Amino acid sequence: MRLDEEFDRAAGRYDLLTRLNPGYHASLKAAATDLVRSLPTGHLTLWDLGCGSGLSTGALVEAAGPQARIVGLDASAGMLAQALAKDWPPGVSFVHAPAQELPAVAAAEVDGPADGVLAAYLLRNVHAEQRDEVVAAIVDQVRPGGWVALQDYHVKGDRRAAFTWSAVCRLVVTPLAAITRGNPAIYAYLRRSVLDNDSTAELEGRLRRAGLTDLRRSTPRGWQRGILHTVLARRPLEGEVV
Ligand SMILES: C[S@@+](CC[C@H](N)C(=O)[O-])C[C@H]1O[C@@H](n2cnc3c(N)ncnc32)[C@H](O)[C@@H]1O
Repeated sequence: MRLDEEFDRAAGRYDLLTRLNPGYHASLKAAATDLVRSLPTGHLTLWDLGCGSGLSTGALVEAAGPQARIVGLDASAGMLAQALAKDWPPGVSFVHAPAQELPAVAAAEVDGPADGVLAAYLLRNVHAEQRDEVVAAIVDQVRPGGWVALQDYHVKGDRRAAFTWSAVCRLVVTPLAAITRGNPAIYAYLRRSVLDNDSTAELEGRLRRAGLTDLRRSTPRGWQRGILHTVLARRPLEGEVV
């Protein structure tokens, strides 16, 4: 299965399905707000990795203001087409590339490292053996003292969360995808990829190994409690002992 092609097929229904997911937009907004509040005020430069149809990019614009420089990156041309069809402030741009190519792409898109990076629902979609490499590339694109926010579903190691996730997929996600004529393959993949995703401890281990510090993890109220997790982490200053 080519994931970028499956997201291309899902792109037209993506925003509709997220509107049917209670808490989706509020959680993106919370992650973007927490990221921006961790940064100094001023004209920020931010990456939105795995920006998809631009929902997370919109959350960053709302949090950082219309003067921010924000680059959305995504591997799916179809998802990016949805993003590009929306209205954006002049500082927002999009690039079609896999996150694995971030080091090569970044030089052409931004002048130097960014203040912050948001990656909502990205790392789960990167092969497990490439995740450390992608995390290292993310850290490389953040200036010392800058922050990273990762948001995704993590249920491994938590039987109750895994059970709830499977039930939500069986009783809600799969039927809704059928009713709205969404791409069934991507929703079958969604269920499996969440069950297989890193545990929160594994994710935090990756972030620490990449040199990040001050990790802060949160989970929302509602059905996503214990399933959706947002981790914020800081790149230490030059010479800082952590
Ligand atoms: C579930 S969507 C999330 C989109 C957006 N961040 C949001 O919160 O609405 C995941 C996105 O990650 C993209 N993606 C998956 N693997 C990727 C990779 N290796 N590099 C870049 N984008 C990737 C997909 O194309 C898809 O648009």
